[in-house]
Amino acid sequence: MEATAQRDEEARAILRANDRGGYSVPNRRVYPFQWNWDSAFVALGFATFDRDRAWREIETLFAAQWRDGFVPHIVFWQDDPGYFPGPDRWQAGEQVRTSGITQPPVAASIVRTLWNDDPSSRDRLATLFPKLLAWHRWFWRHRDFEDRGVVVTMHPWETGRDNSPEWDVPGAAIDTAGVEPYVRRDTSHLDAAMRPTQLEYDRYVALVDFGRSTGWDHARIAAHSPFRVADIGMSMIFLRANRDLLALAEALGESAAAAEIAGHVARAERGIGWLWDDDAQSWCSRDTITGRPSGFVTSASFLSFWAGLVDPARDAAMLAHFERIGTRVRYLMPSLDPDDPGFQMLRYWRGPVWAVVNYMIGHGLSEAGHVEAGARVLADTTALIARSGFYEAFDPTDGAPTGGDTFSWTAAIWLVRTEQQR
Ligand code: DGY
Repeated sequence: MEATAQRDEEARAILRANDRGGYSVPNRRVYPFQWNWDSAFVALGFATFDRDRAWREIETLFAAQWRDGFVPHIVFWQDDPGYFPGPDRWQAGEQVRTSGITQPPVAASIVRTLWNDDPSSRDRLATLFPKLLAWHRWFWRHRDFEDRGVVVTMHPWETGRDNSPEWDVPGAAIDTAGVEPYVRRDTSHLDAAMRPTQLEYDRYVALVDFGRSTGWDHARIAAHSPFRVADIGMSMIFLRANRDLLALAEALGESAAAAEIAGHVARAERGIGWLWDDDAQSWCSRDTITGRPSGFVTSASFLSFWAGLVDPARDAAMLAHFERIGTRVRYLMPSLDPDDPGFQMLRYWRGPVWAVVNYMIGHGLSEAGHVEAGARVLADTTALIARSGFYEAFDPTDGAPTGGDTFSWTAAIWLVRTEQQR
């Protein structure tokens, strides 16, 4: 109990230390700016002890929104030479310098939680609502341009799961020959064995250079990007976010918006089946250029429950994967199936467990009635942090830490654990 109280205090101290006045850095050395989905999860942590600060985290993110609704994945509120690629390489942004790609749209779901826990915040919700809706419309316009009802990503960084093996085959189409020289900064902060490879980085930078060459014209990027992958993680997260945005529209009496968003939910529900892979018996990302499914079972595959999908046969198949993986590792949910030959316990999104993904999987399973499975995921998350501290991610076999320390979103997920375990 005392150890738990101590971890609580450490978690709050991390959020305070990573606070840059209205926004948080994920980690002060490795990620010294505001990151989109990190901020959304961080708001949940702040909400456990400072509701005003929780809302501000999201409001600050949306202060960087572009006029067309786009919300960037990084906001460069201040300079920091410790990160590459910085604002000069991106050359993007309107009110403030930003990146030119987005990130998993969890914000509407988090805002719904903030609102549910604090109905006195109606004015703040009402101010954020049109901004959330504008972002979702931007997604439909530029990340579902073929009208499939799924999210097509233009950059592995956009998915948040940077070096997942799902991007290896589609990524081979990215020409890295013209990439101007650059110096990685991530590997000066962290062991290279925990990070993406040099080839992966060259591909990331080539895609940044390509986007910049279009002047961040997202219609042109969607038409010509060499990397266009329907991401199972973003698609599931976006379906859930649309359901949550619909609930918010109804709460605010925004009936025209509610009707529009209900149409978006229907579009996603119709389209998502395209991402079911019969061979893998799993939800999987799919390359939209070749039409080929990735075939990889990753932690993102289990977000179908968070998305609110109900399909007994597919749910049973996913639960069978869950049971199998649960016997292979001590801590769920590894970011890659441990039976995959490419599984690596410490390398970023090729094996390690991430607390925020567990938060969504655990809640999703519980909400879908798979209470024991959901509880295992949430309990494993708490056990990992109790054992190792507030790291970026964890080895699923023994709980060893990997990546950056004093990580904001890990601290946030720790703080909301009581609510998780309810
Ligand atoms: C990085 O730089 O590793 C980030 O994940 C990009 O968003």
